[in-house]
Amino acid sequence: MTHKKTLTLEMAGARHKTLSVEIEQHNHHYYTQDTPTISDYEYDLLIKELIDIETQFPNFQTPESPTQRVGGAPLDVFTQIEHERPMLSLSNGFSDEDIKDFDRRLRKEADLAENITLEYVAEPKLDGLAVSIMYEGRRLKYAATRGDGKVGEDITQNVKTIRSIPLTLPASAPEKIEVRGEIFMPHDGFAKLNELQASANKKVFVNPRNAAAGSLRQLDSRITATRPLEVFIYSTGMNSNADFGVTHAQTLSKLADLGFPICPLLEVVQGVEGCLDYFQRLSAQRADLAYEIDGIVYKLNRLDWQQAAGFIAKAPRWALAHKFPAQEKSTVIREIEVQIGRTGAITPVARLEPLFVGGVTVSNVTLHNRAEIERLGVRVGDTVVVRRAGDVIPQIVSVNLDKRPKDSVPYCFPEWCPECGSDVVAEGEGIISRCTGGLICGAQVKQAITHFVSRKAMDIDGMGEKIVDQLVDESLIASIADIYALRADQLLKLEGFAQKSAENLIESINKSRTPEFAKFLFSMGIPQVGESTAEQLANTYGDLNALSKATIEALEALPDIGPIVAGNIVRFFADDNNKKVINLLLERGVAYQAVDLSKVFDSDNLPLAGKTVVLTGGLSSMSRSDAKKHLQALGAKVAGSVSKKTSLVVVGTDAGSKAAKAEELGIKMIDEDALLTLIEG
Ligand code: IVH
Repeated sequence: MTHKKTLTLEMAGARHKTLSVEIEQHNHHYYTQDTPTISDYEYDLLIKELIDIETQFPNFQTPESPTQRVGGAPLDVFTQIEHERPMLSLSNGFSDEDIKDFDRRLRKEADLAENITLEYVAEPKLDGLAVSIMYEGRRLKYAATRGDGKVGEDITQNVKTIRSIPLTLPASAPEKIEVRGEIFMPHDGFAKLNELQASANKKVFVNPRNAAAGSLRQLDSRITATRPLEVFIYSTGMNSNADFGVTHAQTLSKLADLGFPICPLLEVVQGVEGCLDYFQRLSAQRADLAYEIDGIVYKLNRLDWQQAAGFIAKAPRWALAHKFPAQEKSTVIREIEVQIGRTGAITPVARLEPLFVGGVTVSNVTLHNRAEIERLGVRVGDTVVVRRAGDVIPQIVSVNLDKRPKDSVPYCFPEWCPECGSDVVAEGEGIISRCTGGLICGAQVKQAITHFVSRKAMDIDGMGEKIVDQLVDESLIASIADIYALRADQLLKLEGFAQKSAENLIESINKSRTPEFAKFLFSMGIPQVGESTAEQLANTYGDLNALSKATIEALEALPDIGPIVAGNIVRFFADDNNKKVINLLLERGVAYQAVDLSKVFDSDNLPLAGKTVVLTGGLSSMSRSDAKKHLQALGAKVAGSVSKKTSLVVVGTDAGSKAAKAEELGIKMIDEDALLTLIEG
C-alpha cells in the first residue's frame, strides 16, 4: 500500500476512524440486516488497509477496532463476572391449556381486570446460549455467559468476534447499558463446520446448540472467530434508567435503532388467541428456518404490568416459553449394558442404532433401573420408540412387539458387578441396584476420587478425570486419602507431567487441605448426600465426631432428610473402610473447618420470620429483585399480590391497585425509607 510511508499520525488517525466506521457499517448491513452493500473482496481490502495502519501506528489498535474481531491471544482460564441483575430463565408451558392458565394467572398477579385482552410479544425461543453484553461509555466493556444466573464467565474476547455485535454504540445510546440475547449457530454454518471438523478428524458436534456452546467456550478467541455464530438480542439488562419506551416491543425497536440484531420474526399479538395463532404459524415454518428454535416465548408487552407481575424463584411471571412438542422416532436396541456409578449404583443403558430425533443424534438412552426395564419389557433387538423434547434427556417410551425378533430372550439384570465381580444388591424396593464392591471396584474408586477433587467438593484445581484415571491405573493412589501423600517426583512418571505442572498439582492439593466442613462432607460422596444436605448436616452437627454418632432417628428429624438418606449416613460412618480413610485423611493433614454452632443462624429468630411482604411501585435505591432478596434475608416471604395473609406492603413510587387493596384490607404499609431502615437495622 502506497499510503504507508506517506501517512502522518494525524492523517492515519482520521483514516483509521473513517475506515472503522465504514467497516462496522458493512458488518451491520451484512450480518444484521442481511443486505450486503459491497463485495467480500472490497470488504477484505478495507480490513487490510486498517490492519496496515495499525501495524504502522499500534496506538490505534483499540479494543473496539474492527481488527479485533479476529480474536486475540488465548486465555488460561475464563474469569468470572457477577451480573448486575440476575439472569433469569423462563417457565415452560406445553399445551394450549397451559397458555390459557398463564394468561389467567397473570391478571391476578399483576392486578389486571379479567375482561381485557392482554397484549403480548411473541418471539421464537432460540436454541443457543444466553449472553449478557455490557456497554459503558458506549463501548463494549464485557460479555458474560449466564452461568448460574448470578455469576457467569467472561467471554468478552469471543463475543467480540461476532460481527453483528456492535463494539461501539451511537451517541444516542445511554452511558451505560446491558443487553441480553441468545447466541446461536445457524443450520448452514453448523453443517459446514461439522464437515470441516470431520475432514480434519476433529470432534463433530451433535447439534447447533452444542457447536455454539463449544465455540463460545474456546479459550482461544481466534478459533471462535472462525465459527459462524450469530446473535439476537431479546432484552435490556440494567439500563441506567434510560428511556426505552413503555412496552417490550418499544424497547426492542430502540435496541434495533442502536444497531443490535433483533429477531425479525417477533410479533405483537393480542391475547391467548394471538399467541396460539403465532405458535401454529411458527410451528409450520420451523423446519424451514435458518436456525433452530425450540418453542415460542410470550412476553407481556407493557413494562409497568411486567413490573407489577414480578418474578417467582428464577423466572418472571410475565413471560412463558411455549415449548414445541417432543419428537418421537423408532430405532433398534443393539445392546443393553450397565454403568457403575460413584456409589456403586448400577444404571442400565440401551445402546441404539443411532437416530436423529429432536435435533440431536441419539446412540445411548438410559433405562434408569431394573424396574424400568421390567415396566417397558424391553429386550436386546427390540424396536423401540425414542422421545426427545428440548433439553430433556431422550427416553424410550414403548416397545413395538410386532417387530420383536423371534429368537429374542428376556433381559437378565446382572447379579454380579461386571467391573469387579462383587454381588449386586437391591435397595429402596428394588429401584436401585448397587455393586457391593465399594473401594475394591475400580469403577467406583475412580469416580469417588473424581467427585472428591471436583470444584464443588475439595476443589483440587488441575486434577480432572483423566489425571485421576492415570493415578489409579499407575497405582499411585487407591483412595481419596492417598491424594495427600502424593509427591511431585511420582507425578513426573505420568504422561503429560513436567516439573512445573507436577509442582502446581501438589500446590493445588495442599491448598485444598482446609475445606469448610460442609464441603468436606459433600466430598465424601455419601450416597444421596448432595451439597445442601451436607450443608444442613454441617450446620446441625458442627464436626465429624458429632455427626458420626448421630442416629437414624435424629437424622430423620431434620428437614429434607428421609429414612433412606439417614440410613446411608449412619451406614457410611459405621463402615470400617470409611473410618480408615477418614482417619488417614486427618493424619495426612486435612483439617476441615468445624462449624461454630453458636453462630449458626436460627431462621425462626429473624426479624421478619413468618411475615409475608408485598412490594408495589418503583424503588429508587435498589431493584425490586434486590429488595426482595433483602427481605428474604430478614426471614420474610415475598408475595406478588396483596391478600388478607399479607403482613406488610412496601409502597414505592406510582404504586397502583395493590396499595389501594392494602389500604382497604387495613394492612400495614411502609415507604422506601422505612424499608431501608428495616434492611439496615
Ligand atoms: S427472555 C427473563 N427471550 O431461554 C427472561 N429468552 O429458558 C429471560 N431464550 O436463558 C429470557 N430465546 O437463553 C428470552 N426470545 C427469547 C429467548 C430466550 C431463547 C433462552 C435464554 C434463557 C432461556 C430461558
